[in-house]
Amino acid sequence: MKSINEIVKNKPWLGWLMFFATMFVVFLLGLLASSIMERSAEAQFAYTPLVKFDSSEPRNEVWGQNFPREYQSYYRTADTTFKSEYNGNVMIDELEEDPKLVVLWAGYGFSKDYNQGRGHYYAIEDIRNTLRTGAPMNGEASAMPNTCWTCKSPDVPRMMKEMGIAEFYKGSWEQLGDQIINPIGCADCHDAETMNLRISRPALVEAYERTGKDITKASHQEMRSLVCAQCHVEYYFNKKKIEGVPYLTFPWDNGMSCEKIEEYYDKIEFSDWTHQISKAPMIKAQHPDYEVYLTGVHADRGVSCADCHMPYKSEGGQKFTDHHIQSPLNNVANSCQVCHREETTKLIENVYERQRKNRENQIVLEELLVRAHVEAGKAWELGASEEQMKPILMDIRHAQWRWDYAVAGHGGSFHAPLETSRIFSTGIKIAQDARIKLSRLLASYNFNQEVPYPDIASKNKAQEYIGLDVKKLKADKQEFLKTVVPEWLEKAKKRESTYQVKNI
Ligand code: HEC
Ligand code: HEC
Ligand code: HEC
Ligand code: HEC
Repeated sequence: MKSINEIVKNKPWLGWLMFFATMFVVFLLGLLASSIMERSAEAQFAYTPLVKFDSSEPRNEVWGQNFPREYQSYYRTADTTFKSEYNGNVMIDELEEDPKLVVLWAGYGFSKDYNQGRGHYYAIEDIRNTLRTGAPMNGEASAMPNTCWTCKSPDVPRMMKEMGIAEFYKGSWEQLGDQIINPIGCADCHDAETMNLRISRPALVEAYERTGKDITKASHQEMRSLVCAQCHVEYYFNKKKIEGVPYLTFPWDNGMSCEKIEEYYDKIEFSDWTHQISKAPMIKAQHPDYEVYLTGVHADRGVSCADCHMPYKSEGGQKFTDHHIQSPLNNVANSCQVCHREETTKLIENVYERQRKNRENQIVLEELLVRAHVEAGKAWELGASEEQMKPILMDIRHAQWRWDYAVAGHGGSFHAPLETSRIFSTGIKIAQDARIKLSRLLASYNFNQEVPYPDIASKNKAQEYIGLDVKKLKADKQEFLKTVVPEWLEKAKKRESTYQVKNI
């Protein structure tokens, strides 16, 4: 083989070619280096704070000046165009979709109005709009306590700091209407000084303390779920802790499973309401997303809520956390395919399959529950005694608790498909037990026919069946939105204009 020297001697142009090729490569490397330097300068620029604000600043717009990418992605939760088979961010009227719910919640606020959750952006608007908070006007009080604001706004930690925790929970819902203005945001999950994730809601810290755990010891990965567990959990208003205060409490003292929480409620004889037809002492499940998620395989493998609902995103050379919290099915590439190699359609199908199969049992359980309530109503009508009814009503309470616990989070069928399916099936068994006892009891009063299934084919019919006058409620609500809410906004604007924001 000839040496390079010899080759170049014979063909001098080749030498020049090699020279220029080398120069070209050096030039490209130079470009790359400059681009990297520019990007890191950009990165520094992006994280150089422009404004300084108070640690309890509630306005997302103000935080957004320092962190425009997170802010802009966060405000995409205002989008309401994505619909998956069962969820998404479009407004779904759940009572219209499934009128059986009206009967299951008869005598309770949820039978008036219940929509499936939308983006965080709408948290304040939706709580004002729902018929459940009523139309508190002219000094009249809402039937709901202030505690209802707790999972809606970064104004909540601000007010708790000002008023004290128990004082915050005290009083009826309209009392803080001009204070709780900004939708769920930065201050709910972040420390303003360090931008570290933080737990801003005392109920979660207290629940940890009662079970001998210290939440400040949680790992970084756990925090990526615990920030969500401030709100996406089961809770109740404990009226016995401090006289006259509906104190927000997570019922985790005996454990976090559906059965352990039920045991907790049974022991303190807690009920949210007495069912209008069956007179059963009912428990309303809230949204135990976190508790159910913990029993699934993803939690078992250390995958956090944020891994799927807040994946990383790249923009202009910047990697950041996508704050557009939504159904991950609208973003499978970033939410799932960082870990799973399957096609998008396949992964979506996997989710739907689990949801559809659980839905089958859900519908069976709902129908049994409607029947059990109506049959219990018949038994009372025929003269059944409290003592005869007691075990039946406890069955109805437990069966409906299971149904609600499994559906209320909206993600359970995927987060933990096996656990969700197990809960539905134990619910079905208990509802059947109630109905066997009921048919014996009815027979003892010589009633041996089927108690007719009510005509509840639509939301209207179902609400009529339970004697609810929604027209009046709606008219009052419109008046409230037109007169009271603008006053709240006016007051809030004045107050916020006094907050200190310094340019740096
Ligand atoms: C301060 C309380 C709070 C915190 C913290 C919170 N959420 Fe929410 N979340 C809500 C409320 C309230 C809604 C319903 C808003 C509505 O419909 O008006 C909601 C709605 C949602 C939805 C439905 C959105 C849609 O468009 O379909 C998802 C998904 C969700 N949250 C996930 C999360 C995740 C994941 C976390 C943690 C990273 C989290 N949330 C933290 C209170 C909270
Ligand atoms: C529901 C909780 C939640 C809310 C609300 C929230 N964040 Fe975050 N944020 C997170 C999580 C989770 C991370 C990832 C943190 C980690 O893994 O270290 C994060 C990360 C960040 C980071 C670090 C850089 C990055 O992108 O990873 C910044 C900056 C940030 N958020 C700013 C904001 C701003 C500004 C707002 C308000 C517009 C906001 N966040 C609202 C949960 C939240
Ligand atoms: C492995 C990924 C993954 C993890 C981890 C995860 N989720 Fe989900 N979540 C999903 C999927 C998929 C759905 C179903 C979305 C659909 O049907 O459109 C969902 C649905 C939801 C919904 C209902 C969404 C809607 O559009 O109404 C909420 C709320 C929710 N999850 C909250 C949470 C919370 C809180 C955690 C942590 C405690 C969590 N998720 C953990 C993937 C995940
Ligand atoms: C951070 C990694 C990670 C992310 C993100 C993730 N997964 Fe997974 N997933 C896992 C692991 C780990 C398992 C357990 C199976 C294993 O160990 O092989 C799993 C299991 C599953 C299973 C089978 C278990 C079951 O519940 O029946 C399905 C289906 C699944 N994932 C779908 C999804 C979908 C859909 C998304 C996006 C919404 C997603 N995963 C996001 C890591 C991830």
